[in-house]
Amino acid sequence: MGCYKRLILIPFGLLIFIMVVALVVEGRVPFACDPKNGLTRGYIFCNKNVPIHVRVQDLIGRLTLAEKIRLVVNNAIEVQRLGIQGYEWWSEALHGVSNVGPGTKFGGPFPAATSFPQVITTAASFNQSLWLQIGRVVSDEARAMYNGGAAGLTYWSPNVNIFRDPRWGRGQETPGEDPTLAGKYAANYVQGLQGDGAGNRLKVAACCKHYTAYDLDNWNGVDRFHFNAKVSKQDLADTYDIPFKSCVLEGKVASVMCSYNQVNGKPTCADPELLRNTIRGEWRLNGYIVSDCDSVGVFYDNQHYTKTPEEAAADAIKAGLDLDCGPFLALHTDGAIKQGLISENDLNLALANLITVQMRLGMFDGEPSAQPYGNLGPQDVCTPAHQQLALEAARQGIVLLQNKGNTLPLSPTRYRTVGVIGPNSDVTVTMIGNYAGVACGYTTPLQGIARYVRTVHQVGCRDVSCGGNQLFGSAETVARQADAIVLVMGLDQSIEAEFRDRDGLLLPGLQQELVSRVARAARGPVILVIMSGGPIDVTFAKNDPKISAILWVGYPGQAGGTAIADVIFGRTNPGGRLPMTWYPQDYVTKVPMTNMDMRPNPATGYPGRTYRFYKGPVVFPFGHGLSYTRFTQTLVLAPKQVSIPFASLQAQAKAQAFTNSSYKAVKVSHANCDEMEVGFHVDVKNEGSMDGTYTLLIFSKAPHGKWSALKQLVSFHKTYVPAGSKTRVNAGIHVCNHLSIVDEFGVRRIPIGEHELQIGDLKHSIFVQTSDQIKH
Ligand SMILES: *[C@@H]1O[C@H](CO)[C@@H](O)[C@H](O)[C@H]1NC(C)=O
Ligand SMILES: *[C@@H]1O[C@H](CO)[C@@H](O)[C@H](O)[C@H]1NC(C)=O
Repeated sequence: MGCYKRLILIPFGLLIFIMVVALVVEGRVPFACDPKNGLTRGYIFCNKNVPIHVRVQDLIGRLTLAEKIRLVVNNAIEVQRLGIQGYEWWSEALHGVSNVGPGTKFGGPFPAATSFPQVITTAASFNQSLWLQIGRVVSDEARAMYNGGAAGLTYWSPNVNIFRDPRWGRGQETPGEDPTLAGKYAANYVQGLQGDGAGNRLKVAACCKHYTAYDLDNWNGVDRFHFNAKVSKQDLADTYDIPFKSCVLEGKVASVMCSYNQVNGKPTCADPELLRNTIRGEWRLNGYIVSDCDSVGVFYDNQHYTKTPEEAAADAIKAGLDLDCGPFLALHTDGAIKQGLISENDLNLALANLITVQMRLGMFDGEPSAQPYGNLGPQDVCTPAHQQLALEAARQGIVLLQNKGNTLPLSPTRYRTVGVIGPNSDVTVTMIGNYAGVACGYTTPLQGIARYVRTVHQVGCRDVSCGGNQLFGSAETVARQADAIVLVMGLDQSIEAEFRDRDGLLLPGLQQELVSRVARAARGPVILVIMSGGPIDVTFAKNDPKISAILWVGYPGQAGGTAIADVIFGRTNPGGRLPMTWYPQDYVTKVPMTNMDMRPNPATGYPGRTYRFYKGPVVFPFGHGLSYTRFTQTLVLAPKQVSIPFASLQAQAKAQAFTNSSYKAVKVSHANCDEMEVGFHVDVKNEGSMDGTYTLLIFSKAPHGKWSALKQLVSFHKTYVPAGSKTRVNAGIHVCNHLSIVDEFGVRRIPIGEHELQIGDLKHSIFVQTSDQIKH
């Protein structure tokens, strides 16, 4: 009987296998408007030659109220009578197609996807074309997976919240603490994902999240579901809003997600000022606004913001929410309409935003294979070129923090045996951080180093929490024998993650002791490699004469081990810069994570946040990063003054009235900003003997300093300079955008007077005055 069973089972199993493979390879059934469906062929919403807004209205006109209600949630239902499949809106692609979210499924012909470094690492490259390029590769793989029925087309990435507090568990997902940097990251990554936008078309739809002032997960008894972020108009306008504004205006993102927390007493997903007026009104979002997962439920259940669930549903929709990640709107919208809290038309507006995005994605254009990107398939995922870019990104993101006596790079012929020690020395998934997928493959730090030299390996601690010293002895033995030591220490998702903020900034458990003991025992140079998302107070290592060099590698992605070794042995000359301040441990004992103020408060002793406002001691500053070579800069062209024309006579009159007050600053809205770009030419010379890349950072500092930051990054340029040669960088700053500051009321103004610029290592000042000219 067993034999008989087997006989029929094998062919049957094979058959299923063949059917599944055939289905996946041939592609999914069209989402809607299947050309084989005679019923829908004649519908206007299926007619590609009709303008999208007309098609959208046609479709909405055909839907029943019950259907509409089940379409404004992430798992949108099938509308069989109109030939429309169900759709899962929730997919993620923070640094590669991710398996977080039910929209993506790895397996079958799509076992893996290219896993780029975590965003904080990629941000450290300060390379805009890299961010764009990664977005392009990720969306190629996403489209390929969509075509094969393994993923959606709507990706809730990137996370562009400001990395405000060094303890934040999700700081790793962000491009760091600076609004300009985060804004540029957002615009580039989104454009890479969404494609060139020809004909309003989307390759995939990106989403900038989490709007806004969300950067606390779980600290000291306060969690994100209950946190009320008290944010000043000034901080909102010149810090928290900037990356989102850039994402919408410059990146032309197709979606924004509102957050769990409240801002000034209102859940962000129920705040019409934030959603309807700012995102959609002021910034003109062409796309949809989605809730964080179950955040509508959260403001009803956890925050008790409304008395009834129907009121919560109505508040969200009235505020401008279009899609609920979660079941809440599907359950309570009907009641909200019956109670007269909202109308069916309010729902139609939300639906129109959603369906428009789906139509821009081509989802109503029939057969996916006949569309742009329709040819992408399994052969386009994890390609050698994509994996090479993941390696390149890791190399560009590694930051050389310290290099005493130019110990690095190590010569593999001189240091033939290298001791590789530490809980992160042979890790795989740790290197891809959170919101990752299934990587194509890994090279661990140990494997990377083993390609250059003979290695001796000891973990020293069983895991990053490093609760015991039982393994220290064997690590010390390695240190005594090897020619050089590489310690790979740091954190992983057990220490910093979603819903897990850190308590402090020191290395966890006994890690510090392990490093010091190994350093004491070491015969040769000791290299400390920190793998972490957030900053670590490594003062002990800076001060330890036996520790020669410190590298920060973030979470360097699937090829991280190769990149680390390439930097250590000098195949790659490091050029990364820190995208966030490395504070001493002492800082966090003075600063409650719940305090959202960016600016210091002398009355309370609150020190302020980030390099823009905090003046105290740091372990390593924002923008820090060394190279194996030495660069010098010369200013070739640098204007010394600039005049701002007014936009109108009334504007001039108003500005003059304000000018009579003690602080002279012209409202940006009163200025004519059209031709206010000022060009700078800077020559960068590589004075050393090794080719390298230099990142020119330009900071501005406004006169007087009443509202202004200590300094503000306004532009950055990464450039490759071969040894001994010189490259010219043409940098521009825009007077209205880059020399303006924000007052207490959130109004942007350009201070009149001497603005100081820091251009690399150089200082330059530029005098800003008003012109008598009026330019309409
Ligand atoms: C500002 O000062 C100018 C010149 O001192 C004066 O003519 C003008 O009336 C003043 N405007 C206001 C609103 O006080
Ligand atoms: C920026 O990244 C791109 C893509 O990897 C690369 O081609 C380019 O050389 C990088 N720029 C610099 C200056 O390193």
